[in-house]
Amino acid sequence: MAILKIARMGHPVLRRRADPVADPTAPEIRQLVRDMVETVHDADGAGLAAPQVHVPLRVVVFHVPGSRLAEGEAPDPEEGKIHVLINPVIEPLGEEQVSGWEGCLSVPGFRGVVPRWKRLRYRAVGLDGKEFTREVEGFHARVVQHECDHLDGILYPMRMPDLTLLGFEEEMSRYPLGRDDADDEIEEEEA
Ligand code: NI
Repeated sequence: MAILKIARMGHPVLRRRADPVADPTAPEIRQLVRDMVETVHDADGAGLAAPQVHVPLRVVVFHVPGSRLAEGEAPDPEEGKIHVLINPVIEPLGEEQVSGWEGCLSVPGFRGVVPRWKRLRYRAVGLDGKEFTREVEGFHARVVQHECDHLDGILYPMRMPDLTLLGFEEEMSRYPLGRDDADDEIEEEEA
């Protein structure tokens, strides 16, 4: 196990499209996932994508803490468990978007309000090589969109329609925005 160095915005590995994993059951992928899980726990994040640890492969890990669920969102039946998605594909369900606060371990110290699909279906392969599908909403949907964007070279500020809602976390918490500044519920993520 190892805590990996996290790439920061500006590093080319965060700008490129990551490659598909040819064999999700390969021992080196299992090792990468182990190290990513240790790294995300150490950094106190909700999720991490492989390009953030300088590995340009389509792998993400995340967890969905009960404290971060949207109102009415079903709790994760495996709360506390780390989800591993290899070669994930996202399909939005419906047109509805929700704005919420996000942070990113590759953009340390900042927070911004980002619109995301409220509900989506994703398909991915697990470490056992089996494909699975899930339909999710709220925080789970937000973290999946944030992490999967990393696989396409997209960081959350690139998704922000209003950059006045981007700022240093310290200042944003000192001078909180009114609820009118974001359309809907405010969710939080550090990924
Ligand atoms: Ni991130």
